[in-house]
Parts: sequence; structure tokens; C-alpha cells
Amino acid sequence: MKRPFISGNWKMNLDRDSISVLCKTINNAAPAVPDVDIAVFPPYPYLSYVVEKFRGTSVLVGGQDLHYEKKGAFTGKVSGPMLKDVGVTHVLIGHSERRHIFGETLADTRKKVEAALESRLIPVLCIGEKLSEREAGRTAEVVIEQLSEGLKSLSENDLATLIIAYEPVWAIGTGVTATPDQAGEAHQIVRQWFFGTYSEGYAGALRILYGGSVSPDNVDTLMAVKGVDGALVGGASLKAESFDRLVRFKH
Ligand code: PGA
Repeated sequence: MKRPFISGNWKMNLDRDSISVLCKTINNAAPAVPDVDIAVFPPYPYLSYVVEKFRGTSVLVGGQDLHYEKKGAFTGKVSGPMLKDVGVTHVLIGHSERRHIFGETLADTRKKVEAALESRLIPVLCIGEKLSEREAGRTAEVVIEQLSEGLKSLSENDLATLIIAYEPVWAIGTGVTATPDQAGEAHQIVRQWFFGTYSEGYAGALRILYGGSVSPDNVDTLMAVKGVDGALVGGASLKAESFDRLVRFKH
């Protein structure tokens, strides 16, 4: 049985006060769900603050992105060693907003996965198709390209800690969630690719999260889908009450 991974991607939201309230709620909830991994991905300026809030607890803290170079003249960028230095353990890579708003390429995601691993950060590689790609029947092709390019030449040893988040772009922030069938089918495509590329043991144990309008209303249903091992949640992770309900999903 894999440990479910319920995570909140706060994106460019919240402030010190609202984060303080949210952390308090999460700290109260965490001991009640000892079999669930809880992780949050705060904006950079609050990372140290959040790491302190969760010090000595089981709650995990991650960055929303990293630059692939370790240091240097890259104004505005943050490196893997910096994230590691402030106590972060995880990092999102290739979130759809990075890919589609900021033009992050497949090659960029590959370099970022490697940079994360070099800094001993756990990469959470985000993949997912746009609505037009789904409608054109290209879902499998798109997610497989994102996987094969993003993980190119990396062995399962290198990728021992990897987590995948399948997030259909059309479901992110739209309130339109993938149906259980759609999520199950896409997760199956992703896992099959891992079975074809790596060992059975590795592919079977890999955690694949679902993301895209996950909410207290649908979390139980989505988490019950075969092959869904967790959730990456945006909007519904910003309010204490709803995040509390998410980590206490019925299982
Ligand atoms: P959402 O965002 O839950 O607001 O749809 C999910 C994500 O972007 O990770």
C-alpha cells in the first residue's frame, strides 16, 4: 500500500497571516492522519517561515519551481541548493503554469529534474494535456512526451524519489474536474509508460498524483480511483477548512 500524498500548491497566493492560520490547522490535522503524507508548496518568500512552522512535524514543504543552474547571474531565479539550504525537501517541476504561461520547454523540465536530484530534492514532475490536445485524441502522446523528455536518460536509481502529478490543463483552476474514468485512464497511461521503461517494482511503487480542481466535494471519489495515489491541489488548499477536509479524505 502506497502512502497517499496530499499536497497544496499555493501558487502566488496568501500572506504571512493567512499562512500562519493555515499552518496551525495543518499541524492540528497531521497527527490525525498519520498514514497520509501532507505537503505544501508556498511562494518563495514564505518558505523559511513555513519550514519553521512545520519543524519537528511530519508535514513536508516544497518549492514551486527551481532554476537548473546552481548559482550565478540569473536575476529572479532560485536554485536547488538554495531550496535545500532553507529546509525544503520537495520541488514542483513543469507545472502547467510554468509550461504554458512562462514557456518552459521539455528540455527545461529535464534539466530541472536533474538539478533537483543533484540537490537531493524530491522532484514532483507535473504533466498533463491541454483541452485541444485531449479533443484531438492526443492525451497519451502528450503526457508520454512530457515523461520521456522530462526524464530522458535518467535511471530508476536516479529517480528513486520521483513523484508524478497528472494534471490535465483544462481541469486546473476551472472547477471542471476529470471524471473518475478520465483520471483512471490517464493514470493508467502514465503508469504503463513507467512499466515499459523501468522495472515492474519501480513502476508499481511510483506515486502518481491527480491535480485539477480537486476539492472537499470530490476528493474521496478521486482518491478512490485505481492508480491515483494522491492529489496536488491549488484553490482548495488555500483555505484552512477545506485543506483540513482534503487531508482527511475517506479511505
Ligand atoms: P486547482 O490547481 O486545484 O486550483 O485546479 C491545481 C494545480 O494547479 O496544481
